[in-house]
Amino acid sequence: MRLLLIGAPGAGKGTQAKQLAERFGLAHISSGDLLRQHVRDETALGRTAKSYVDAGDLVPDAVVMNMLRKPVVAATEAGGYVLDGFPRTVDQAKASFRTARTLGAEVQAAIHLDVPSAELVRRLLARRRGSDDTQAVIEHRLQVYLDNTVPLLEYYAGREWMFTVNGAQSPDAVHAEILDRLRKLADFGM
Ligand code: AP5
Ligand code: MG
Repeated sequence: MRLLLIGAPGAGKGTQAKQLAERFGLAHISSGDLLRQHVRDETALGRTAKSYVDAGDLVPDAVVMNMLRKPVVAATEAGGYVLDGFPRTVDQAKASFRTARTLGAEVQAAIHLDVPSAELVRRLLARRRGSDDTQAVIEHRLQVYLDNTVPLLEYYAGREWMFTVNGAQSPDAVHAEILDRLRKLADFGM
């Protein structure tokens, strides 16, 4: 099973990806978690990514795609993945689709978590993960989402494997709604 989670900062991508990965035995691959790990480890990739992550800007596509290639290929061979936070732009979606098709690893469902922006800000200010959970950077991350990822949702709109769930419910209710929608997708045979 190969799933994508798309949503604004704080929408619950990480929370839902973890639950789906546990339930279905998939690898949870979070582009943000991997980038933060590279920054902490001070790898060459981490040194390139740090200023973007701290500012709430998108890390350049080539950097993110290079970072994800190996874990995504490994996860595909091992039974599947939940990709959390990638793709985030139309360009990333187009480029990764070409790669995935040659590998036979195209995504089977894209889940959009929809949450009102006041709730997003509330969650992120309460969490205070690090340098990018300050009021100013949160506002910028939300703007980056509107400018870059909302067009991705429009690009995917109307595809039968893409659906939106109400992400403003409790985590368990969101998970249940995702399961219900996945069951309705014919390919899954769940
Ligand atoms: P990333 O790590 O992906 O951050 P984000 O998109 O801003 O989202 P978060 O991880 O903050 O939130 P989430 O949706 O995972 O929600 P969570 O479950 O944690 O990206 C960070 C940075 O990396 C980017 O700014 C960019 O610089 C770079 N980057 C990453 N991917 C990239 C890409 N593809 N291209 C270029 N650059 C990229 O929940 C948030 C909080 O809310 C938690 O405290 C949680 O407990 C709580 N919560 C969750 N669900 C609920 C619920 N249902 N009800 C109440 N509270 C809830
Ligand atoms: Mg996350």
